[in-house]
Amino acid sequence: MQVPAVREYVERVRALTADRDRLAREVQALSGHRPPGTVQSAGEPLPDDWALPKQRRQAMSKAWHEVAAVERLTPRIEPAQGALDMALRDLVRHQVAAEPYWFQKLEVMPGLFSPGWSDPAKDKLPYYGLPDDLTGKRVLDIGCAEGFFSFEAERRGAREVVGIDSFPDSVRRFNIVKAARQSNANAFLMNVYDLEPKRLGTFDVVLFYGVFYHLKHPQLALERIRSICTGDLLFQTHMHEEPCVKGTPWARYYPHGMMSGANKELYDPTIFWLFNSACCMAMLDHVGFTNARILATDPHPFVVSACVPERSAGCPPDQTDSPWC
Ligand SMILES: C[S@@+](CC[C@H](N)C(=O)[O-])C[C@H]1O[C@@H](n2cnc3c(N)ncnc32)[C@H](O)[C@@H]1O
Repeated sequence: MQVPAVREYVERVRALTADRDRLAREVQALSGHRPPGTVQSAGEPLPDDWALPKQRRQAMSKAWHEVAAVERLTPRIEPAQGALDMALRDLVRHQVAAEPYWFQKLEVMPGLFSPGWSDPAKDKLPYYGLPDDLTGKRVLDIGCAEGFFSFEAERRGAREVVGIDSFPDSVRRFNIVKAARQSNANAFLMNVYDLEPKRLGTFDVVLFYGVFYHLKHPQLALERIRSICTGDLLFQTHMHEEPCVKGTPWARYYPHGMMSGANKELYDPTIFWLFNSACCMAMLDHVGFTNARILATDPHPFVVSACVPERSAGCPPDQTDSPWC
């Protein structure tokens, strides 16, 4: 026979256990995967959120290989007829329209906008912590795409702006905008993993927006970034705040990409990791950034500013000691 206090205790434990199981089921349904601690059994089919992107990626790759033998690496741009007699504005308009894809909507010339589906002036700039005054700073824009943040940094007084992007088409489009704006910013085809002081020098301000979740080797990327940053890092990534592990560094791996785009209508095979906020902070700490501060979590999670412990001026590479010597 149970005395009343023990019976109450047992009932309380039962209620808590039921609550815990219900919450785990809710979290599982919300996040679309099994609760932590459970393991995929041998022979069990792949979960839907993994199998579907895998099929998409394989179909995309098959379609590409079917045309690869006759396809070009970069799309052919039709030359503008009578280009020499054209007004510069019309020539730029032709170049912008000839590009099959633009990521960023940006002002190529006064009143002439690229047709990008991402609108950084509205959706990113107000939240991404770019200082109003960059006078005298050497700025690196990693994953610069068509250069919205590079040109904005230049406009805010940066001494020198360098963009890098691993996708050749990004650099070509950047250069259309650069020429139209008569900008001094330069973009190079370079992977974040290849950053080192000998190549492009060191930087007072490093912009690392929208690239982290595209990386297979994110910690290596942060190490390379730390090696060239002598001042401030501004870091933005998409993330996944898993409720069960709040506060614990945690990451979710997407082996075959996920849906992306303004309305999740585009399949992107180049997304690999979504980290939670604790994990981003831990990874920044691991490579030696300090004073990490979360600047924004909404509507574009997740923006952090951090800096190096001992600041020095960003410098171009020493030309007596650079890889091309
Ligand atoms: C989502 S876009 C972000 C563009 C821009 N930073 C912004 O926030 O609007 C990601 C860009 O990073 C580039 N990228 C992806 N992986 C990269 C890598 N490993 N190294 C350099 N650039 C990379 C892509 O080609 C693309 O232009």
